[in-house]
Amino acid sequence: MGAHVQARHVLLGVSGGIAAYKSCELTRLLVKAGHTVQVVMTAGAARFVAPLSFQALSGRAVADDLWTSRAADGMDHIDLVRAADALVIAPASANLLGRAAHGLADDLLSTLVVARGDIPTLMAPAMNQAMWANAAVRRNVEALRGDGVRIAGPASGPQACGEVGAGRMLEPEDLLWEVEALWQPKRLTGRRVLITAGPTFEAWDAVRGLSNRSSGKMGWALARAAWEQGADVTLVAGPTALAPPWGARLIAVESALQMRDAVHEALDRAATDIFIAAAAVGDWRPAQTSSGKIKKQPGESPPTLTLQTNPDILAETAARADAPFCVGFAAEAEELLANARAKRLRKGVPLLVGNLGPQTFGREDSACVLIDAEGHRELPRLPKLALARIILEDVAARMASPTLSDPS
Ligand SMILES: Cc1cc2nc3c(=O)[nH]c(=O)nc-3n(C[C@H](O)[C@H](O)[C@H](O)COP(=O)(O)O)c2cc1C
Repeated sequence: MGAHVQARHVLLGVSGGIAAYKSCELTRLLVKAGHTVQVVMTAGAARFVAPLSFQALSGRAVADDLWTSRAADGMDHIDLVRAADALVIAPASANLLGRAAHGLADDLLSTLVVARGDIPTLMAPAMNQAMWANAAVRRNVEALRGDGVRIAGPASGPQACGEVGAGRMLEPEDLLWEVEALWQPKRLTGRRVLITAGPTFEAWDAVRGLSNRSSGKMGWALARAAWEQGADVTLVAGPTALAPPWGARLIAVESALQMRDAVHEALDRAATDIFIAAAAVGDWRPAQTSSGKIKKQPGESPPTLTLQTNPDILAETAARADAPFCVGFAAEAEELLANARAKRLRKGVPLLVGNLGPQTFGREDSACVLIDAEGHRELPRLPKLALARIILEDVAARMASPTLSDPS
């Protein structure tokens, strides 16, 4: 694991709500991401999910009793939180939020909250929509925010009680993003970032078309890395199999023309600081399209597919009077450095990320080279999220130092 995907120790507090079962999955995801997890449960939480489930998933006995410490000096209520890189409470019940907001320490978890010092702390509320709307709960949540606690969610939707509204705990995948964001420096707070991702699909007829092997994973990783650093993120994406990214505004498109329109609309709507063109935009589209399905006639020779050139979204964006800081991506098949250098100049962008398409498309990891007017910097094969974090760190440094953002 490199510095940009660092293993951490998470103290995961689970309080008494029906969403406690989702925290089993959160535990699994945290462990899968390389972190260690110590679960602490309230007595209420243990009514919903057996501690043994969390023990099996985290590989550690659950701590649930203030008076039964595993530490020789009996100080689990201090030691557990001192050892942690983050305190995460999911689900955070109305009761737990109230106790935390008022500094009450009447069981192990609430005592750990009071003893937390300055470690990053996140609470993921989960409750019935009327409970979430309750004035006392609102006051407690605002007090906790004021105390520096990150309140993640809740989401809106159907609830276990049959009612519909705000109060659902965030999904475990989204909470994983939230937890890992706690450790990222906020270099892009107040910045607006627009990212394109995925392939395009260029329809030929009602059922056929041209596309490519881009999975969208690099664009998703960039959206996540930008959001983690505090940016307001819009992601314009061609067809992918990926779930909408937490924290980013997703605009789903299909073709290069639609992607171009969506990009210009986003740029027109709000002043944008950074544009990252990670999508694998089809270079060509069928010159003629059919709204129905082109029929195969027995004995007839196959039809000829004539192509026309798609617009260059990156070059167009870089040429706008209000151009953001533009970062291009080049997926090359060979001669990576030479081709990517030429592409940077052709597009007129200050920074270009070059990688080898066949060794990148669809994979969880990639290796790339960052090219600017001064030279190039090779990044080793790493998970795409780690690469995205390095790229965003590099871009943030350039934003802070205007001489580094010269496209020449
Ligand atoms: C079936 C059931 C479901 C509950 N779901 C929630 C919930 O989703 N959120 C919540 O804040 N409280 C919920 N409660 C109430 C809490 O469990 C109760 O307030 C408890 O005292 C919380 O204690 P704790 O915060 O120490 O875990 C539920 C209670 C029951 C019986």
